[in-house]
Amino acid sequence: MDYDSLIAKAMAAREKAHAPYSQFAVGAALLAKSGRVYTGCNVENASYGLSICAERTAVFKAVSEGERDFEAIAVVTDKGVTPCGACRQVLMEFGEDIRVIVADEAGGYRVFGLQELLPEAFNSEDLK
Ligand code: THU
Repeated sequence: MDYDSLIAKAMAAREKAHAPYSQFAVGAALLAKSGRVYTGCNVENASYGLSICAERTAVFKAVSEGERDFEAIAVVTDKGVTPCGACRQVLMEFGEDIRVIVADEAGGYRVFGLQELLPEAFNSEDLK
């Protein structure tokens, strides 16, 4: 799947964002190596700390459906901001080579490697 198609799915997911507190809508589309795409949006809560980011929604949906291997994730925000640290760490759990496509609402985008966004990451090797 090309980047523009993945971004389009993240844009559609962004429409579903539940962000009444921040007014900051985020959409994500995670491409598994199986070829399937799992989307996510941020889901906020009146108890603010319970809110979850779009990226983690997508990852948890995918993993709960049996996926473990991912190629890329597209993330759409108004100006095209990079994922938060928590989401970088959750993505890292499933592969340091995942491409992170950061898009703005006009469709412009930048592409990062996950290692570039989270250098010297803590991972399962550190538990051995
Ligand atoms: N948010 C995401 O969904 N992804 C990110 O990478 C950064 C932040 C959400 C969380 C919250 O609902 C809103 O954006 C403002 O922080």
